[in-house]
Amino acid sequence: MKKSNSNRIGFGDISIQNHRLNVGGCDAAELAKEYGTPLYVFDVNYAVKTAAAYVDVLKREYPNSTVCYASKAFCCKAIYRIIAPLGLGADVVSGGELYTALSGGMNPKKIYFHGNNKTEEEVAFAIKSSVGYFVVDSLHELELIEKLAYSPQNVLFRVNPGVEAHTHRFIQTTTPDSKFGFSIADGTAESVILSARKYKNVNFVGIACHIGSQIFEPQSFEIAIDKMTDFIVKLNSLGVQVERLDLGGGFGVHYIEEDRPLTPEQYMANSARYLATAVKRRGITAPHLIFEPGRSIVGEAGLTLYTVGAIKTIKDLKTYVAVDGGMFDNPRVSLYDARYTFVVADRADEKGDKVYSIAGKCCESGDILADGITLPELKSGDVLATFTTGAYHYSMASNYNRNAIPPVVAVKDGKSAYMVKPQTYEDLIRNDVIPLFLEDVK
Ligand code: LLP
Repeated sequence: MKKSNSNRIGFGDISIQNHRLNVGGCDAAELAKEYGTPLYVFDVNYAVKTAAAYVDVLKREYPNSTVCYASKAFCCKAIYRIIAPLGLGADVVSGGELYTALSGGMNPKKIYFHGNNKTEEEVAFAIKSSVGYFVVDSLHELELIEKLAYSPQNVLFRVNPGVEAHTHRFIQTTTPDSKFGFSIADGTAESVILSARKYKNVNFVGIACHIGSQIFEPQSFEIAIDKMTDFIVKLNSLGVQVERLDLGGGFGVHYIEEDRPLTPEQYMANSARYLATAVKRRGITAPHLIFEPGRSIVGEAGLTLYTVGAIKTIKDLKTYVAVDGGMFDNPRVSLYDARYTFVVADRADEKGDKVYSIAGKCCESGDILADGITLPELKSGDVLATFTTGAYHYSMASNYNRNAIPPVVAVKDGKSAYMVKPQTYEDLIRNDVIPLFLEDVK
């Protein structure tokens, strides 16, 4: 079971050994046998390596900084045990993520609470939990903080710098019509920030943006930095000091052959250097810099294992290979036309020449995980692995068709253990109630 560094295949630290897929020193097909499928597998060392690299690079390039892990990418208690000791903070966007982060041992002072429509309960819970920072995205939220807080809360404003990042439109966040942030261009951001002065429980500390996700070009971040630092100049001229600048996340990762991401270190170093220069050129005080990578820390740490069930050929059209997962464990294909790489776990280096469409088991024609991909000849019982499923998979999974959300198994140095246990049928009906008045329904 010992892992060697050779035979890496370009997805995280996954390798092929004796034709078999190996992750975290564990044989993928054996994991499927031991834990069953569908199964999410999470390579702890890869996540540690990536998160630590971010912290190191920023410490070197821009010491006045914090790396916050974006919880939405993959949220469960154990992830905070991995990232908190490395010195990262966390970005959360709901009471549920906040609760999980705190339960996982995250220091509340290092938490940034995002979200465009925090409820009154969520704001109250965050105040009670002493979260470090609110990233405010509406006047409604400002009023809630003012009403519910008993002492001033640190507030950053989410602004929209209007950067067109090249990614799927559903994960672009700074188009002019975005639901996120206050527009810099039309003057709203500036007037909202000035209006914050009148709230006694609001302590303005900075501005935040997030230009989108799965972005490959470092130039998109440079444009954002220019726009944000120009805005700081403007705020300074109005007598407003900006202590903190949160640039969000968005660094792209490798899903398919054509993807050419930079390394996390390259993205981070480039942006940090660019910011240092931008600040110097404008003669403004260098703000505390926050980056919030999610996908690029955990994405390539994950893979999903499925077992092939039914195989169905539609004459002269295509052959469907149905697996025991689908859109309930990976909704990204139907939501964003996302594309993935698949291999057979116990003959992972076999390219093959059969063209298959990988179908999920949900009752939806659109539940297809890959369309027209080339694989070796498959038979029922084969274990298929798909890569880069550590981010926005478990966290976006659902119980559609009352399928159980797959468990997550952590692997590290040849050891494996659950970090999220399997759901049982009993779990699926745990919150179901039959109202008394239905007893009489004939
Ligand atoms: N910070 C903020 C304020 C964000 O909104 C996000 C992601 C991040 C950080 C982390 O971005 P990352 O480094 O992971 O790209 N479900 C979509 C992705 C949605 C991202 C939403 N915000 C997907 O599966 O592609």
